[in-house]
Amino acid sequence: MIYLNGKFLPMEQATVPVLDRGFIFGDGVYEVIPVYSRKPFRLSEHLSRLQHSLDGIRLQNPHTEAEWADLIERIIELNEGEDQYLYLHITRGVAKRDHAFPRAATPTVFMMSNPLLTPPGELLVSGVPAITAGDNRWGRCDIKAISLLPNILLRQLAVDAQATETILLRDGLLTEGAASNIFVVKNNLLLTPPKDHRILPGITYDVVLELAKAHGVPHAVRDVSESELRTAQEIMLTSSTKEVLPITRLDGQPVGNNGAPGPVFHQLNQLYQAYKQEVMRAHVPH
Ligand code: PDD
Repeated sequence: MIYLNGKFLPMEQATVPVLDRGFIFGDGVYEVIPVYSRKPFRLSEHLSRLQHSLDGIRLQNPHTEAEWADLIERIIELNEGEDQYLYLHITRGVAKRDHAFPRAATPTVFMMSNPLLTPPGELLVSGVPAITAGDNRWGRCDIKAISLLPNILLRQLAVDAQATETILLRDGLLTEGAASNIFVVKNNLLLTPPKDHRILPGITYDVVLELAKAHGVPHAVRDVSESELRTAQEIMLTSSTKEVLPITRLDGQPVGNNGAPGPVFHQLNQLYQAYKQEVMRAHVPH
């Protein structure tokens, strides 16, 4: 069951007019929210980022936070599975094709749920391969825009090379993955680039940094150079669907001494899994 413009209905019955600006221009924003044990994870943080994305494209939020929370609760109820991932999508609505904003259009609001399939245990043991590519995206990567053509092309490079992710470099610096944030360990220090217009402000990124701080994992948020990436002891990616995943090969070369997941990954992954359990136990439905 999906949600479309005020109605819950089976996916097969849901249609959108061809003049929807999401279809015509990719004029919209989205969110991906993980659901564990039927409870949304970090909901208010995801809704704040949604607001940031909507502000970034000058689109009024069609719902209050309480309304979103209700809709989300209902979509979880209507779908099977303890762990789900929710996709929320808002476009500027249906209007005659013209680049400029339509004077009056009602935003299209779409929500669906899919089973959340986090990486299997073997991948946490072996790690995954990644490649690098130049970051040729636009200058507002902090907006979670549905127009994802650059990300799609960059991610496909990884698939073509039998790798899991493409790590992006801009002006000699690490930005992020095509669909994830990136952390490296260099001189026993966990490093990740700052949240600015060059990267998506990841919710998982925030959780990892909070855990590092709370548990005394030495870390710094600062620019990371290409050479630091290439000579890192450890590399890992974070995202709502992949959680914390170790990258053990970069452009065909082993990462660190032995191309195996390192101690910082193991510690952060353990902390992340424990934190998830704790939050889910403490979760009080609104
Ligand atoms: N993508 N950077 C990019 C470009 C992303 O697309 C994502 C997530 C992230 C990680 O953000 P978070 O930790 O909040 O999931 C970083 C989602 C999962 C997607 O598009 O499916």
